[in-house]
Amino acid sequence: MATILVQTELNEPACLKTDQFYNDVIAGLRAEPKRLNSKYFYDANGDKLFQELMACSEYYPTKCELEIFSEKTAEVCKAIMADGDDFDLIELGAGDAMKSTYLLKYLLEQKADFTYLPIDISDNVISYLNVTLPVTLPGLNIKGLNGDYFDMLKQAASLSGKRKVVLFLGSNIGNMPMDKAVDFCGELRSNLSQGDMVLIGMDLKKNPKTVLAAYNDKGGITKRFNLNLLERINRELNADFNIAKFDHYPTYDPETGACKSYLISVEDQEVSINGKEKVLFLKDEYIYMEISQKFSVLQTEEMATNSGFKPIDNFFDTKKWFVDSVWIAE
Ligand code: AVJ
Repeated sequence: MATILVQTELNEPACLKTDQFYNDVIAGLRAEPKRLNSKYFYDANGDKLFQELMACSEYYPTKCELEIFSEKTAEVCKAIMADGDDFDLIELGAGDAMKSTYLLKYLLEQKADFTYLPIDISDNVISYLNVTLPVTLPGLNIKGLNGDYFDMLKQAASLSGKRKVVLFLGSNIGNMPMDKAVDFCGELRSNLSQGDMVLIGMDLKKNPKTVLAAYNDKGGITKRFNLNLLERINRELNADFNIAKFDHYPTYDPETGACKSYLISVEDQEVSINGKEKVLFLKDEYIYMEISQKFSVLQTEEMATNSGFKPIDNFFDTKKWFVDSVWIAE
């Protein structure tokens, strides 16, 4: 009960969220070239599609990170427990918290004194975690926060003065272009104090075919995952996208490590949003949907030092396809 109360107190009102969504969508579709923000992929349907994606054979990142957390649980936990004092464990973009559950379980076994504060853009996810985690992990102190990362990080920081450990897993950092990622880490640093830590998961550069296959799965889940955002706009913003008239185009550039996806209009068409906004699409015009940046280990270290952190530990899967790094705020 208490957890749900906290969650509603800290929730943004639904109408404000819809306004923000509407404004972002209109601005993105009025821009040249057109774009949509991939953070909006995650409604209840998008969450479900991402679950499916994580289970499909081509999508490796989750499997790699799960291997790290299941095989190196003690080492990772030792690194974040540091001197053994009580701490707040904040997770940005918690999703189903499957990976962090390995850590949470071990931390509880070690009788570590911590509160788990998962933050997610999906209210669906946060309600789910608030209800299920106290059952699967008895004794866990949890306060789920629904909203944007930094708004909620500020809320989380105002709740206690304890040392903070921020989990930012699943290569969610890759959803930003490199310069934005460094800005993001800088802003993260400015919300933390010296000695606070970050455990950050990053997808590494590897065979380009392996990367592209993960974002172009044969079952077409990634395609549906992208198209779901158009369907969400139809549902929530009263639009009339015909999703059969958009094709999915995934790309990977091994030089820059940028894996990007687009939706391409298959013909000239007009889409109306909320009865008043009309958006024209030319045949072959694209909407830029998402970037999933891949990094070299050196790049990950530069990202840390350029934003006020010191990288102190790297945990790899056996294939070295993915890294979870521990950074300490300097
Ligand atoms: C959840 C952002 C890490 O970029 O790999 C998966 C989302 N997009 N397939 C990623 C995603 C297409 C995923 N992240």
